[in-house]
Amino acid sequence: MRAWPAAIVLLAIGCAVRTLPRDLSPADASGTPPRSLRDGVYTVEQRRRGEEVYFTTCVRCHKEEMTGSQIVPPLIGETFLDRWRRKTAGDLFEWVRTSMPPGDAAAQMTRQKYADVLAYIFSRNDFPAGPGELAADFGALHTIRISAEPVLPDVGAASAAATGAQERPGP
Ligand code: HEC
Repeated sequence: MRAWPAAIVLLAIGCAVRTLPRDLSPADASGTPPRSLRDGVYTVEQRRRGEEVYFTTCVRCHKEEMTGSQIVPPLIGETFLDRWRRKTAGDLFEWVRTSMPPGDAAAQMTRQKYADVLAYIFSRNDFPAGPGELAADFGALHTIRISAEPVLPDVGAASAAATGAQERPGP
């Protein structure tokens, strides 16, 4: 019973999030250009925190290797990534936040811990760390595609080309 007020608050927040128009293109939703998991969307420190969450709360079912079991799906490799391809980190965040660990409200997971544990899962899937943390916020995460294809390097390459055009080496 003690958990009720917190549950109601979470439910209210959850409803607010759900009313966001989900079919806006990522750039429209937040003004942030879209990125992919290849673009370094979490930090090394966040990965470390996420590892702690994983080994406290998730490991008993998903296993140290993240390979799961007959009834628990893997969180690593093609099987996992294929299921979430064409979705965003925001979709995954919302699903995990509302579904994991199953039936265990006592786990008391904050949004921050969910973001951290996702950072750890992404690192185990060989996605690189970068300069900024994975946000604990659907709107921000919704701009990040679950894809092995980088988005930012294209932008980088374009501006590098532009810079190169301006700064020609001297004679
Ligand atoms: C009691 C066992 C158990 C625990 C603890 C648990 N999970 Fe799960 N997890 C499952 C089961 C069972 C499924 C499949 C459920 C489904 O598909 O509806 C699943 C599915 C998932 C998926 C989706 C996988 C896919 O292929 O789509 C993710 C991501 C996930 N869990 C993350 C986590 C994280 C992160 C934690 C720790 C915070 C966690 N789980 C804790 C049992 C568990």
